[in-house]
Amino acid sequence: MSIHAPKPAIGLDNVPAAETALSHVDGERGELIIAGRRVGDLVAEGGFEHATALLWSSASGRPISAEETQRALGEARVAAFADIKRLLAGTDGMDTVSAFRAALAALHAHDGIAPRALATGAAAVIGAALVRRTRNLAPVAPNAALSHAADYLQMMWGNNAPSDKEAAAMDAYLVTASDHGLNASTFTARVVASTHADLFAAVTAAYCALTGPLHGGAPEPVLDMLDAIGTRERIKPWIENELDKGERLMGFGHRVYRVRDPRADVLKAALERFNPKNARMAFALEVEAAARAALAVRYPKRPLDTNVEFYTALLLDALEIPRAAFTPTFAVSRMAGWTAHIEEQVRRGRLLRPSSVYIGAMPGA
Ligand code: ACO
Repeated sequence: MSIHAPKPAIGLDNVPAAETALSHVDGERGELIIAGRRVGDLVAEGGFEHATALLWSSASGRPISAEETQRALGEARVAAFADIKRLLAGTDGMDTVSAFRAALAALHAHDGIAPRALATGAAAVIGAALVRRTRNLAPVAPNAALSHAADYLQMMWGNNAPSDKEAAAMDAYLVTASDHGLNASTFTARVVASTHADLFAAVTAAYCALTGPLHGGAPEPVLDMLDAIGTRERIKPWIENELDKGERLMGFGHRVYRVRDPRADVLKAALERFNPKNARMAFALEVEAAARAALAVRYPKRPLDTNVEFYTALLLDALEIPRAAFTPTFAVSRMAGWTAHIEEQVRRGRLLRPSSVYIGAMPGA
């Protein structure tokens, strides 16, 4: 582009960078379609394996069943667990979010296991092992016969096999967050895949993009925010004070949605099904209402509503997942979408190479 051309919006808003049959975000209507289904309907159909099978089928152009996916993920968890010492080697002393990144980077191809399944299975094994490590507990072996959601909890909790209700709540989360159009981490995965680097490089890069607080790093600060507010009387002054300081309220606003993020309500409903008497819920609802009202006053022309991270934080907290593991848990889910986008990009895409607007000096100027 010539430096004399009109300056486009910086940030790639509304710039299509790929064609995809995997998911669609309609920001005006507040609709998320994953593999041809509305996100709430996909959760109701049930099963991370089902959602993942739909995504992988679409990406590969070959029908893959939920049963085949369940088998592949079970085998992958077992293979990753056999390698867990090596995967975590060198991560001592690192925080959970960073150690997860280093362990993902250590993944490599295994004979007989599709890379997409290995990455997805390994994410749950690594995430669970890191949670246990923060409690000075040894990793627990996977049970390939369990669903991915139930096994993730089982590997985290050890002998406490999850109840059907707990597994269903985790499953609802894993399905809800499994894919979401060309968000920053998925775009990153596609950029790396577009160079024909391998899948493990692409998912590691995607995870790195996910960890920032403007993307998947938000749910931990959501709970920190609720803790910092503390009491009902402090809600309004705390929020006003943060906004006066120019701080962002975590769990609110979205680049694409101009109405409420549909995933917020899907996760809120999952939490209500799981634990209708959740101790944080009443307080969180008040904070949510006050935050939305304050943002509407400050940004009357820029709707800033609740996003997925607000109820992610509440649901994962209710499942007793430590907040340091929220972002890795997001990656356990989004791995389904990332791996599908990587395959779709390699099969149908071109090298992703955008342009920049040069604002530097010209020779001789
Ligand atoms: N709290 C306070 N102000 C906000 C918030 C917020 N949560 N979100 C946006 N704004 C403000 C911005 O500061 C900006 O104000 P300004 O014009 O005075 O500078 C204005 O609203 C417009 O915001 P944009 O910069 O256009 O928003 P953008 O599309 O770049 O950001 C984002 C979207 C990153 C999600 C933003 O809303 C945000 O930072 N939210 C808080 C963090 C969060 O919840 N992240 C999780 C996102 S969901 C996900 O990725 C899975």
